[in-house]
Amino acid sequence: MATRAPQPQPGIMEISPYIPGESEVPGGLKPVKLSSNETPLGPSPRAIAAYKAAADQLDRYPDGAAAALRHAIARQYGLDPGRIVCGCGSDELINLIAHAYVGPGEEAIYSEHGFLMYRIATLSSGGKPVAAPERDYRADVDAMLERVTPRTKLVFLANPNNPTGTYLPHDEVRRLHNGLPSHTLLVLDAAYSEYVRRNDYEAGLELVATTENTVMTRTFSKIYGLAALRLGWAYCPAPVADVLNRVRGPFNVSAPAIAAGVAALEDKAHVETAVAHNETWLPWVADEIGKLGLKVTPSIGNFVLIHFASEKDATAADARLKAHGIILRRVAAYGLPKCLRMTIGTEDDNHKVVAALAESMGRPKERS
Ligand SMILES: Cc1ncc(COP(=O)(O)O)c(C=O)c1O
Repeated sequence: MATRAPQPQPGIMEISPYIPGESEVPGGLKPVKLSSNETPLGPSPRAIAAYKAAADQLDRYPDGAAAALRHAIARQYGLDPGRIVCGCGSDELINLIAHAYVGPGEEAIYSEHGFLMYRIATLSSGGKPVAAPERDYRADVDAMLERVTPRTKLVFLANPNNPTGTYLPHDEVRRLHNGLPSHTLLVLDAAYSEYVRRNDYEAGLELVATTENTVMTRTFSKIYGLAALRLGWAYCPAPVADVLNRVRGPFNVSAPAIAAGVAALEDKAHVETAVAHNETWLPWVADEIGKLGLKVTPSIGNFVLIHFASEKDATAADARLKAHGIILRRVAAYGLPKCLRMTIGTEDDNHKVVAALAESMGRPKERS
């Protein structure tokens, strides 16, 4: 009898596995790791203390409803805790949303250089990912709306987007929502929203509050510095929260993560320090790299997209930076083979990157 190996669901083998930012450099140097948009300031000391205190109860299952965390989030933003769903990183929430809302014969739209997980989550749910072209590295509402069909179940928008750092102002997001049929769920991924200080920006709370088909996802991995704990949350219409609560694991968020998340939210001064750091160093990094003759896409996140003349130049710069112990992110998987993405680091890290880039371009620079 002919044998046949077990086959995965259709779509799965079309997925290129997500490749995380590298964390090691050759020669045993201590790396300057600016490849994953982590905060250079680390987590709040209060979050670390809460995490350590949770070690006393490792034999107990966590609260499956993550009630303390949902209530802390609800207090902070003035939300209904019943409409908050916590997840093992916002990655899990993106996956759960795709799993619950898109299937074979159905489609999910995202922008051309949008966060990679949208394509991965859609394919792993058996759906068809549909990429809409961007305009100047920014999501294009018209291009997204043109791709809506009766089969469109989800539209994903990272705002601001990773890896471009660009954003859509609130009126554009609203225009996107207004153009969608009521059976299409708009997912606003606001992973970097805490860094944003723009009058025309809104993370998504307003649309979730006023519409039946918008979800906003958030993370503790970026400004809160808790990436290792894997913690995210979604604010949803009540029926969507109900759906996600049916499909998530019963204990999908660990007790140490819940405790650290609550403490991190309480430490508002820590978040303000991180915002101030970014407001100082994001423009400095963009200007200094611009002065080297490299184009930098204007960013409102904690990272910048640096454009080289060719893929060969980007590869060579990446290799030379690594030789200095500096790790940026290759973004060819996002359709950006000529670019590198750099996370804003400490003052010292930022100076090191600019100096190493200058040297690699034959323009050595004194530290200013
Ligand atoms: C836009 C965006 N969304 C979601 C995530 C996932 O974050 P988490 O660590 O919460 O899974 C990232 C992480 O890089 C991101 O850049």
